[in-house]
Amino acid sequence: VAADGFAPRLLRWFDASGRHDLPWQHPRSPYRVWVSEIMLQQTQVRVVVPYFERWMQALPTLRDLAAAEPDAVIALWAGLGYYARARNLHKAAQLCMERHGGELPRDIEALAALPGIGRSTAGAILAQAHGLRHAILDGNVKRTLARFHGVRGWPGTRAVELELWRLAEGHLPQARMADYTQAIMDFGATLCTRQNPACVLCPLQDDCVARREGLVAELPTPKPG
Ligand code: ADE
Repeated sequence: VAADGFAPRLLRWFDASGRHDLPWQHPRSPYRVWVSEIMLQQTQVRVVVPYFERWMQALPTLRDLAAAEPDAVIALWAGLGYYARARNLHKAAQLCMERHGGELPRDIEALAALPGIGRSTAGAILAQAHGLRHAILDGNVKRTLARFHGVRGWPGTRAVELELWRLAEGHLPQARMADYTQAIMDFGATLCTRQNPACVLCPLQDDCVARREGLVAELPTPKPG
């Protein structure tokens, strides 16, 4: 399925135009990737970076987070909003100490069972931290795939979401999973944007169904009503 060149072209784009200097990429560890992914769930990269660096100075390991006072955790989060994310990080770190030997589990089901970690975040963590072949499907990736494959229908419906997961899994490369995962997120965030996507610069433009059929502005289909 991946013989269509989607992943190789995204990786070449990433090498030239993706983000390579994000603090959670150097050094890369499961804990650092996890914290970054939770911060990035509702907050943009440029806002997250200074919070991430301050957090890692105060709580450099999962063990430190598990042992921290709740007030200290919330104080490190202050300004990022959606405080349930910080409470879930704290709780999940304590569950990892109790049930998983002080580490984030590598098993996707066990990982996605932790508070604050859904299917896509679990895939993002395992791909980036361990190079495992798991797909992600956040809003940026849904938009990219809906356009590339010409998938119609609101991605909030179960059937459309399942179709997008199937497509996401079909594109996974055999190697470079960490880079590929960062690449597809950067691609949706910076090139295949919701408004004014940079189609003339796109490495996928020749095979993009939305581009060919003049549907770029129509896809993904918005929520009805
Ligand atoms: N959004 C969620 N995870 C991200 C990441 N690793 N890089 C950029 N945006 C993201």
